[in-house]
Amino acid sequence: MNGTQLLWTDAPHVFSAKQFSPEFLLDILFPLTRIISGMMQSDEGRRELSTWLRGRVLCTMFYEPSTRTRLSFELAALHLGMKVVSTENAAEFSSTKKGEVFRHTIEVISRYFPDVIVLRHKVEGTAAQAARISRVPIINGGDGPGQHPTQALLDLFCIFEKLGRIEGLTVALCGDLRYGRTIRSLAYLLSKFPDVKLILASPPELRLNDDLKAHLDERKVAWREVTNLQAALRDADVVYFTRTQAERLRWRERLRLRLRHLLGNNHFKIGLREVEQMQPNSILMHPLPIAGEVAHEVDYYPKAVYFDQAGYGMAIRMALLRLMLVGGAITPCERV
Ligand code: CP
Repeated sequence: MNGTQLLWTDAPHVFSAKQFSPEFLLDILFPLTRIISGMMQSDEGRRELSTWLRGRVLCTMFYEPSTRTRLSFELAALHLGMKVVSTENAAEFSSTKKGEVFRHTIEVISRYFPDVIVLRHKVEGTAAQAARISRVPIINGGDGPGQHPTQALLDLFCIFEKLGRIEGLTVALCGDLRYGRTIRSLAYLLSKFPDVKLILASPPELRLNDDLKAHLDERKVAWREVTNLQAALRDADVVYFTRTQAERLRWRERLRLRLRHLLGNNHFKIGLREVEQMQPNSILMHPLPIAGEVAHEVDYYPKAVYFDQAGYGMAIRMALLRLMLVGGAITPCERV
């Protein structure tokens, strides 16, 4: 067992943001991400990086749509010299369509010797299920309303790069807190850092689930819930906005939100007027995609960092792949 493993519980798979310790993030993952970002700036650096995982194989299996997670993982792998096989619409174009159960798919794919599988699925808990079956490491690229741990890694890295610290920050999580998996994973990571305060700003129908609130209480994180965006904008160092996960809403929630919209009570939109109410040195983040909740005029406003945030995703995933596959934590892989 090496140092990486000691800091990284439940290795070798990545299925939850809970697995990562602040020490692993601040002392190992983020410095390596910074080194990789620097190397990507020169031909010489990119040549060197292309030898780091030469000949290894990444397999991506996406049962839900994705732009960033799949392509940044695949490009991360290619920049590291890996080979990539991909099924980007597995619900339609794999034998799932013919009735194959998920367990059988993982039993088989993991016997084809990919070095790592990145999985996105609409059902919560699927990545953990795959990890129990797979002979090779699984990375959760998003499991329904469950978790999106590598998104949380890049989110936290973005906060650290832009504000220089995590400790003591006030972070406003805004929008769909009920079904937003990036919110859940980020909240789990933030809860590991001292004196972080959370403002949970959402319409009443989309409040954060009680299990996560209980976790925040257990970790002694100061949090308050608001249904008014203004309080979040005024007090936060980081405003983290999310879209409503329309594809996961129950019909009653959908109806209530529609009614709220028709009555003009839809406060969860942000334009320049709202951005100007934010703290002077604060930042506006969003995991993307944006689906109307942030006005386009905000895109190039200095506080809006969501394109940089998404950009960090590739380097953080390169660092993660390197640590998983060469850090000694992974092969041969044990079942969990
Ligand atoms: N943030 C994120 O997960 O984006 P994609 O759905 O495009 O992968």
